[in-house]
Amino acid sequence: MTMLKLPGLIDPHVHLRDPGAIHKEDWHSGTCAALAGGFTVVLDMPNNTPPIVDAETLAAKQRAARAKAVCDYGIHFGAGADNAEIAASLAPQCSGLKMYLDQTFGPLRLDDLQSLVAHMQHFPQDVPILCHAEGRTIAAAIFVAELADRSVHICHVSRKDEIELIRAAKEKGIRVTCEVTPHHLFLTRDDCGDTNHRGIGAGKCEVRPMLASRADVEALRANLDIVDCFATDHAPHTLAEKESATAPPGYPGLETALSLYLELVREGILTLDDVIARCYENPRKIFNVPAQDETWIEVDVDAEWIARGAKMHTRAKWTPFEGRAMCGQVTRVVLRGQTVFENDCVLAKPASGKNIRPISQGEKK
Ligand code: NCD
Ligand code: ZN
Repeated sequence: MTMLKLPGLIDPHVHLRDPGAIHKEDWHSGTCAALAGGFTVVLDMPNNTPPIVDAETLAAKQRAARAKAVCDYGIHFGAGADNAEIAASLAPQCSGLKMYLDQTFGPLRLDDLQSLVAHMQHFPQDVPILCHAEGRTIAAAIFVAELADRSVHICHVSRKDEIELIRAAKEKGIRVTCEVTPHHLFLTRDDCGDTNHRGIGAGKCEVRPMLASRADVEALRANLDIVDCFATDHAPHTLAEKESATAPPGYPGLETALSLYLELVREGILTLDDVIARCYENPRKIFNVPAQDETWIEVDVDAEWIARGAKMHTRAKWTPFEGRAMCGQVTRVVLRGQTVFENDCVLAKPASGKNIRPISQGEKK
């Protein structure tokens, strides 16, 4: 048994659904899944019902998180068509500003150039802007950020032409960072299945960005040197929702991510230090995550297990990796000197997780 001691991992992109859709996940179940996966900080997305686009909705999310979280967290604010000034004023309480520039789950889609420009110009330089942008929209996001003389973070890059564009921008010295998800590194659209019901299944397979081709997966893997962060895009929906005729897009990912990242090490594509850079050092720098004292995770790198959604801590209770042989398991998580997860049990009490942008920086009581 080889035991590794790693820093508590940071996931810059999760959807914990609280408030608004706690049948899919809430701050307790979602942060339990985070600890089980080795994450001690998660940054939560704003596409709730209602979306997090003003002081009131932000305060409601802060209250829910404070009451239930078992790991630390940050809250990303949502860019709307006419809230650029509000977003800028609330930036000190947020881990980032999320702009949805392409089609996805929820009502936060920004269609016009004017609001993209307004947010890029108004939002403080020291808090990151994250864009859901696909294909040529990535070019728009990078260019408008450059004109506004600020950096931009591109979420869940999934295709060859996208990663090559980001490489070219970086080589020009343009301030762009990016993340890749485990599912876009390990699954292709061929894994969705066929009419004989082999594979993940059509509804369950729905995700944004959609799974891509083998060539796209290979291009992501060939360009990992310019991928700043790994992010799960943990987007839980229930099994019934995913098996319905109108399946919403999204996969749960917190509890399978680390084993898959370690698989890249076993495949010889990355070193362990490369994984730590993408799951800890770079997200810490990009999102200004404060240090967590006396915090680490212990991982049995040889532990073999089979991915089973039904056994997971997430309320989604399914995984696109169902039945897959995994290697590497989190055996213990220590947060601020306390053992908060051990033997597949969460020991931390609700409300023990802390907001990385705490009250002293503006959060309302
Ligand atoms: C996300 C969700 O369900 O909130 N779904 C997804 O397919 N990734 C939305 C998003 O991340 O864009
Ligand atoms: Zn997402």
